[in-house]
Amino acid sequence: MTKNSARNWFFIGSFACMIIFFGLTIHTMTTIPAYTNSDKLTAEVVAGKKVWEKYNCVGCHTLIGEGSYYAPELKDIYSQKGPDFMRAFLKDPVKVWYGSAEAARGQRKMPNFGLSDQEIAHLVAFFEWVDKIDTHNWPPRPQHGTAQAASAAAGMTAADPQVAQGEALVQAKACTACHKIKGVGGAIGPDLDGVSQRLDLETLQQRLVNPKAVNPESVMPNFGFSEPEVDAIMAYLKTL
Ligand code: HEC
Ligand code: HEC
Repeated sequence: MTKNSARNWFFIGSFACMIIFFGLTIHTMTTIPAYTNSDKLTAEVVAGKKVWEKYNCVGCHTLIGEGSYYAPELKDIYSQKGPDFMRAFLKDPVKVWYGSAEAARGQRKMPNFGLSDQEIAHLVAFFEWVDKIDTHNWPPRPQHGTAQAASAAAGMTAADPQVAQGEALVQAKACTACHKIKGVGGAIGPDLDGVSQRLDLETLQQRLVNPKAVNPESVMPNFGFSEPEVDAIMAYLKTL
C-alpha cells in the first residue's frame, strides 16, 4: 500500500464511521419520545419526579437499573403491585410490608416519610409513566409472587385442584401485602383466616368480584378475576 492510498483509507474509514455514528445518534434522539411516551409527561408526572428527588428515593432504590441496591428496583412497580397497594404502602411502608413495627424489628426498612396524599398521588402518576417506558424489559425484576405461586401449585397436585388454583392466585396477586393468612402478611385488611365463616358467601364473592360494591371507600384493588377464578379463591379461603 502506498502512502497515498493508506491516507485515503484512513480518511474514508473515519468518514464512514462518522456517518454511522451520526446516523445512530439521530436515530436514538428521534426515537426517545416514542419509547418514553414523552407526550404523556403531564404536570403530575413531573411533580412526581420532583417528589422522587426531594426524598432521595434513589439513595436506596434503583429505577431502570440506576441508583442504589439497598431496596427493590421500581421500574415495573405500578403494573406489578398496582396503585392501591402503592398508595397504602407509601402512606405507611412498615405497616403494609411487615404488618407492624414489632414484626419489622431487625429487618431493613423503608422509612415513613410522612408523605402527603398529594405527594403520593404525584409519585403514583410518575411510576405509572415510568412503567410504560419501553426499555425492552430492562432491568429484569424478579417476580417473587409468581415464582412462589408456580412452586406452590406444583407441590399441591395431591390436593383439590380448585383449592390449589385459588391458593396460587392468592399468592400471585400478593393478597398478603394487605392481609394476614396463617399469621403471615400485612394488616391493611382483615386477617383472612376463617373469613368464610365470618362472611356470608354472597358478600365474600362480591368482595372478590368488586370490592367497591361492598365498601365504596375500599382500598382493596379490583383484580378483574374471572368467575372460575373467584370460585377457586373462595374454595381456598374456605380451607383457612
Ligand atoms: C432508606 C432506604 C429507602 C429509601 C430512601 C426509600 N425506600 Fe422504598 N423501600 C426500601 C426498602 C428496604 C424496601 C423494601 C422493604 C424490604 O425489602 O424490607 C422498599 C420498598 C419500596 C416499595 C415497594 C416495592 C415492592 O417491591 O413492593 C416502593 C413502591 C418504594 N419503596 C418506594 C419508595 C419511594 C417512592 C421512595 C422515596 C419517596 C422510597 N421508596 C425511598 C427502602 C427505601
Ligand atoms: C391494597 C390492599 C389489599 C389487597 C392487595 C387485597 N386486599 Fe382484601 N381487603 C383490603 C381491605 C382494606 C379490606 C377491608 C376493608 C375494605 O372494605 O376495604 C379487605 C377485605 C377483604 C375481604 C373481606 C374480609 C372481611 O373479613 O370482611 C376479603 C375476603 C379479601 N379482602 C380478600 C382479598 C384477596 C383474596 C386478595 C388478593 C386477591 C386481597 N383481598 C387483596 C385490602 C386489600
